Amino acid sequence: MPGRTDVARFPEVREPLLNLRSALGRNKRLIPSPFDVPEMPDLPVSTDLADLPDVSEVETVRHFTRLSSLNYGIENGMYPLGSCTMKYNPKIAEAASASLRSVHPADPAAMSHVLECLALLQKYLGEICGMDACSLWPAAGAHGELTGMMVIRRAVDMKGEPRTKVLIPDTAHGTNPASCTIAGFATESIPSGGDGFLTASILKEHLGPDVAALMITNPNTLGIFEREIREIAGLLHDNGSYLYMDGANLNALLGVARPGDMGVDCMHVNLHKTFATPHGGGGPGSGPVLVKSGLARHLPLPLIKEGESGSYTLSWDGPESIGMVHSCLGNVGVCIRALAYILSLGPVGLPEVAQAACINAGYLKSRLSGLYDLPYRTPTLHEFVLSDRLQKENGITTMDIAKSLMDFGFYPPTIYFPLVVQGALMIEPTETEPLEELDRFVNAMEEIAETSRTNPEELHGAPRTTPVSRVDEVWAARNIVLTWSKRES
Ligand SMILES: Cc1ncc(COP(=O)(O)O)c(C=O)c1O
Repeated sequence: MPGRTDVARFPEVREPLLNLRSALGRNKRLIPSPFDVPEMPDLPVSTDLADLPDVSEVETVRHFTRLSSLNYGIENGMYPLGSCTMKYNPKIAEAASASLRSVHPADPAAMSHVLECLALLQKYLGEICGMDACSLWPAAGAHGELTGMMVIRRAVDMKGEPRTKVLIPDTAHGTNPASCTIAGFATESIPSGGDGFLTASILKEHLGPDVAALMITNPNTLGIFEREIREIAGLLHDNGSYLYMDGANLNALLGVARPGDMGVDCMHVNLHKTFATPHGGGGPGSGPVLVKSGLARHLPLPLIKEGESGSYTLSWDGPESIGMVHSCLGNVGVCIRALAYILSLGPVGLPEVAQAACINAGYLKSRLSGLYDLPYRTPTLHEFVLSDRLQKENGITTMDIAKSLMDFGFYPPTIYFPLVVQGALMIEPTETEPLEELDRFVNAMEEIAETSRTNPEELHGAPRTTPVSRVDEVWAARNIVLTWSKRES
């Protein structure tokens, strides 16, 4: 790497694997041989020193520092990944969570404090969502869906009803059908109306004695609020069915509207979306489930109980519960971050989150529609979906647009989802973006739209400024190489 150390600015510079930097005697001498601790043959880790790269501490630190500069995260710039709510996570929540590091799970007094915090979070989530009971244990949004559907399954089974089917609108999140299937239900996809939301009259056509529930994402994956949800809830209840709401898009409703007031019986929220805790690879996540009182006895174990002395303990006394869905206390660090986020914003700040998220998305939508096709004209909340229909006339696809955005220093939006829009670009800026960053994004999208008319070839080659340019993703997916092996070196 002659004289070039900034891999982000000099795309041809690649960071080799640590194994390829290995040189005999750099560091392994620091590991005692033979070991001065007993070997644990049952642990699935290799104790063969030959497998470890022999690199010094400073080389290791520099390697990971350089790698971190190749990463793109919300702390680099806007990350408008629709349906993922990639917003900035305040550091105060990190600090609150870090304070748990010294707590030992076998110390009852310390654990009582942790459980008190978790009980408080359950209470706040219940208030925010208008629901009666909450379980914090599911480890992610999809896990929350599965847990919620298992709760409904248990309720249906205990009533002895032959309800085997869950209806899912075509604007629902992609994980919904999988969660229902794993919970033992058959699923039926039902069409949303022409305006992008489910209507009560469409639902009526699909209701029958075998329907256990409707699972609806609200706002849905077009960013559209399900405006007939109360009527829909009424129809379901009259049919003896439950309304499950995928509440992962709660960022649009936070502190403004409560699913419980809409007639929702069971839902989950994504702490790693709405409540500003780490997301994706920076996780782990958390997908608490909330229910109305009639379903509370089926929630997972353990339950958090407050004793008479004011101390908190765990209880496994729940004969009608679905049982455990996660070891220990779920992803407890994530829960503490969410609690800190709720406490720091309070009842005034939380609705402002939803309002700003919707205003930011609305601003982008109004600046970009016209330049790009807007397939649904129905008002949207925290996200919206464009398509590549106009650019396709010049041979430019959603993939070209997304890759080109990387050259402007943006993480691309979600693409080709939802499936109800061909060539979809699903954009969610979140409330944490300032106007200047939104404008920078608009400028980039304007320039891409202009280049698609004047010089489309230019966009086919994007990205050009990243360490790796356009790869054949299908080929890569079919020929995955995820580990280094000596044989290949
Ligand atoms: C609406 C919706 N439902 C469910 C999920 C699944 O959540 P997770 O990725 O945490 O499993 C997501 C993910 O962002 C989502 O946006």
